[in-house]
Amino acid sequence: LLRLVATCALGLERLLAAEMTALLVREVEPLRGAVAATGSWLDVWRLNLWLRTANRVLVELGSFECADGDALYRGVSGIAAGDESWGGVGARDLFDPRATIAVRATTAGSSLRDSGFVALRTKDAVVDAQRARAGRRSEVSRRDPDLPLRLWLEHERASLLLDTSGVPLDRRGYRPAGVVAPVREQLAAACAIASGWDGLGPVVDPMCGSGTLLVETGWIALRRAPGLLRRHWQFARFPGFDAAAFERLRDEARAGELPVADLHLHGRDQDATAVAAAHQSLATAGLDGAAIVLETGDAFAMSRPPGLPGLVLVNPPWGERLGGDADSWRKLGDLLKRTFAGYRAVVLAGDPSHAKQVGLRPARRTPVRNGPLDARILVYELY
Ligand SMILES: C[S@@+](CC[C@H](N)C(=O)[O-])C[C@H]1O[C@@H](n2cnc3c(N)ncnc32)[C@H](O)[C@@H]1O
Repeated sequence: LLRLVATCALGLERLLAAEMTALLVREVEPLRGAVAATGSWLDVWRLNLWLRTANRVLVELGSFECADGDALYRGVSGIAAGDESWGGVGARDLFDPRATIAVRATTAGSSLRDSGFVALRTKDAVVDAQRARAGRRSEVSRRDPDLPLRLWLEHERASLLLDTSGVPLDRRGYRPAGVVAPVREQLAAACAIASGWDGLGPVVDPMCGSGTLLVETGWIALRRAPGLLRRHWQFARFPGFDAAAFERLRDEARAGELPVADLHLHGRDQDATAVAAAHQSLATAGLDGAAIVLETGDAFAMSRPPGLPGLVLVNPPWGERLGGDADSWRKLGDLLKRTFAGYRAVVLAGDPSHAKQVGLRPARRTPVRNGPLDARILVYELY
């Protein structure tokens, strides 16, 4: 079995671990900004296709004690020149000199602080091992390597990993170009998952922007695999990739989807351009068969959709416009109380003061890192 590491934004580890457990990989263990597990290559393909809150899926090729540059070189050489195999793929095939490579390094708490140097030594060790074994070496392709390697150095421990995703998993393939300040897909999915919503009733976003929360929540409700629209998979370029087996995973995913016509999506935004972008996102995401109401208008004047209560999600802009404006957060709290009684609600908020200003007691709060910003997913049960 392979040791797998899925990376994520800080704070999403617990949700990602739950996703991985549900996908039946073993020994799931949350780390910092990542979750480790063990599994097969088939699991690697499955995780890439299905994980909603992960950035990437990596395979750990080996780890070793690493106090200095020499130890780094020796450790990587040992892996690239050795005769280990990873799920049936041997080092000789994986490090085939005809494949192009790239190395990205990160270091934390190590005496080797220069990640550029660490990446360079790692690359040297790999290509020297190839020369010794095969008489030739891989070319480096920074932009589009066949074999994207990662070297993580944490204190005295180094891990050499292989990125199996390539283009990060937030690139689902439905976002129109040129959208401003959209929430990242993983964070949007995390909001829906954190809510614990049972899939009944409509999905509502009163400040929907380009519609990311509607799409991600809609896909979860339909049990649609988030990777179905993606064209690029790094693992498809590795030795041992079984295209027919991956196609079967995609077919099974499609066959397991619930009917889109049962889904009710309600979005609103004051900005007509955003509403147009949301229409486009929903269509590209294959949700145009749902019952959709998208309107241009003020969130605070939104009326309650008919029928059973469902899930309302909001990602208010906290940078500029609503920023430190306590009144807007209070109005949001009022909207939730007044219009959405009986619903579950999720607010993606920035500053901790926002939660206070909303004026409702969250049933759960999940602190997350949103790019350079601290954010929190606040879940309310409005009943
Ligand atoms: C951070 S963005 C939401 C991004 C969205 N989740 C996405 O993925 O694109 C906030 C949105 O709230 C909208 N907005 C701000 N105040 C509003 C109001 N009072 N009524 C309706 N929409 C509002 C803005 O136009 C903007 O599109």
